[in-house]
Amino acid sequence: MTQIFAHRGYSAAFPENTMKAFIETEKAEADGLEIDVQLTKDGEIVVIHDEKVDRTTNGSGFVKDLTFKEIRKLDASYKNKRLLKREPIPSFNEFLEWLTTNSLICNVELKNGIFPYKGMEEKVISLIRHYNLENRMILSSFNHYSIVYCYRLAPEIETAPLYSEGLYMPWIYAQSIKAKGIHPRLLAAPNEIILSSMENGIAVRPYTVNKEEDMRRLFEVGCTSFITDDPIKAKEIQISLRKRP
Ligand code: G3P
Ligand code: CA
Repeated sequence: MTQIFAHRGYSAAFPENTMKAFIETEKAEADGLEIDVQLTKDGEIVVIHDEKVDRTTNGSGFVKDLTFKEIRKLDASYKNKRLLKREPIPSFNEFLEWLTTNSLICNVELKNGIFPYKGMEEKVISLIRHYNLENRMILSSFNHYSIVYCYRLAPEIETAPLYSEGLYMPWIYAQSIKAKGIHPRLLAAPNEIILSSMENGIAVRPYTVNKEEDMRRLFEVGCTSFITDDPIKAKEIQISLRKRP
């Protein structure tokens, strides 16, 4: 059955990449979630999508130029009027601690395409191992050198390249870099690519799938998973398809 992954947590309704959005993902009964990680000036892995804090918080500047203490003072929820409570940028450590309390699958996207963040892979893997979460994690990145490096450091953790344009026979590429899955942009994931990849043992998790017609197509073709901002909507469509005579 196709798994539903919440993109940056349940980001359609809650501030992206915050503990609130992650907790709501679990309540929405999604199968998993996708998060983004960056590295602070003093070497802490933090959960935030952009290289800068400007778009999602009340602060400004690059994550790489701020210490964890400075990052922690920021409010990542202030643009979301529904929330009264402040939501800090989570550390990867606290996120993983929370993950041990549930059974969600987690896709960690290493945001190291713009800044190479020396030591990021080692830190991410060491924390995952610390919490014994190796078999519930998928490491992805648009920086494919980084996911190959992750595989070399930790072959027990699944990897998946992210890409946005049509790759020719992507399952061959995935196999060549020892990735167990591919994470294409939705437009680069027609049914024939999904089916051929899965027949060749490669999981397919397209992003970011928010329209009903696209969700229906992926459920009907039996795609491994998809990544959506709205796991509740996806769940409702999945249930309605199951009820169909
Ligand atoms: O991992 C899928 C998707 O999150 C990649 O794009 O920009 O939303 O991080 P982006
Ligand atoms: Ca992402």
